[in-house]
Amino acid sequence: MHQSALNSSVEMLTHLFLLLAASTGRSNILSLSDEEPSRWRQRTAKRRQRADDLLDSIESGGLQLPEYLTCRGAFNVPTLQIPPRSRINWDDVDPVLDPMQGGKIRVSDRGLRKRAQVDAFHYVLSSLVDAKIQNTKEKLLTGITIIDAGCGAGNLAVALSGLFSSQRERVNILAVDVNEQALQRLEERSQCFSSRNAQLETCCEDLANYDSISSRITPDQNVIVMSLHACGAASDMAMNLAFRCNNAPFVICPCCTAKSLTKRSEVQNGGAVFDPTASFQRSGASTDILYPRSSWLRSKLDLSELSSSVEEQYTILAKVADVGLGPQTPAQQRQTQNRAKKVIELDRLLSASENHDYDVRLVILPEHNPLVYGKGDLLLGAHKGSAEAGVMQAIFDSSCL
Ligand SMILES: C[S@@+](CC[C@H](N)C(=O)[O-])C[C@H]1O[C@@H](n2cnc3c(N)ncnc32)[C@H](O)[C@@H]1O
Repeated sequence: MHQSALNSSVEMLTHLFLLLAASTGRSNILSLSDEEPSRWRQRTAKRRQRADDLLDSIESGGLQLPEYLTCRGAFNVPTLQIPPRSRINWDDVDPVLDPMQGGKIRVSDRGLRKRAQVDAFHYVLSSLVDAKIQNTKEKLLTGITIIDAGCGAGNLAVALSGLFSSQRERVNILAVDVNEQALQRLEERSQCFSSRNAQLETCCEDLANYDSISSRITPDQNVIVMSLHACGAASDMAMNLAFRCNNAPFVICPCCTAKSLTKRSEVQNGGAVFDPTASFQRSGASTDILYPRSSWLRSKLDLSELSSSVEEQYTILAKVADVGLGPQTPAQQRQTQNRAKKVIELDRLLSASENHDYDVRLVILPEHNPLVYGKGDLLLGAHKGSAEAGVMQAIFDSSCL
């Protein structure tokens, strides 16, 4: 192999190795950075400086967010507070509903995180369902359909359908994913418990096919869209699906961000056929999704002094929000990552507010440690003036105390 090609390969492997070290928190591996080739070190330092400058410029003079997003007079994202009586007692629930027993995730940090995520969704969704039922008591309410957008093998959908079946009437769950095998696993798991009230149905569909998904729901249903860790633009599609379903409320915890940068239209125009089974394609942005999504972020990027286009700056943010930038200690890396991720999530929320008249809130999942794991933002939205908007405000206010 030519010497320069060999050097590049070594640099690339070193980069991957360091990213792995940072993402696994293995700082002992990171100490090998002393042996990094200096060219790589310089390039990364330059990229990191650029990302830091960009974040400084976005944050300079404050984020200038609407008043309702502030907590205790400043922009602090509060951690969702679940009242003790509303918490799931995992010792009392059917093991098949528990992500640590019923799903593939075993007793581990990841299992505990999944439990905490289910707990948070259960609390917010229960509050929304209660408000809906109380509000429509006088009318003949046929039911509530919760769409789980990007349900995977059903850690959330199966748990909620089981928990709602014993606690609440008239709740249906429509679990949507483009991955047939994941849906099969979900169905096998859901057959292991008998549901009394909640119905769980599956729908194998690309989330961008809003009409096809919403056609599965009868007009007498009240819809709520939830989504946990749908990769890349799939979280934006979940939000768009809520708009399409009569401006339904949404509860979304997004996942990785750089995958959003693949444009599906380019995949098609570039000759390759769009393949929803390929992860980077199904999580890429459909033609109705443009980044940045809000005029709030667009104008911030317009004003920045970086000599690159708004789209290029967004690309930096989306990449940094996924992995931070090395070589740094894992904690430093997570800090930069969290700063960028917050901006990406605010951009999503503010677009719902600007373009669809939604009340929006941002909270952090309980028991979430942003220095260990970067995907704990919970996006709440409901159409202005609706009962659900009041519920979300109350949840936010009580988390701010
Ligand atoms: C990381 S998994 C999360 C699964 C589940 N919500 C959980 O938290 O356990 C993301 C899921 O989103 C699905 N997904 C990604 N893009 C999608 C799309 N465009 N349409 C439908 N499903 C999609 C994937 O197939 C995958 O099952």
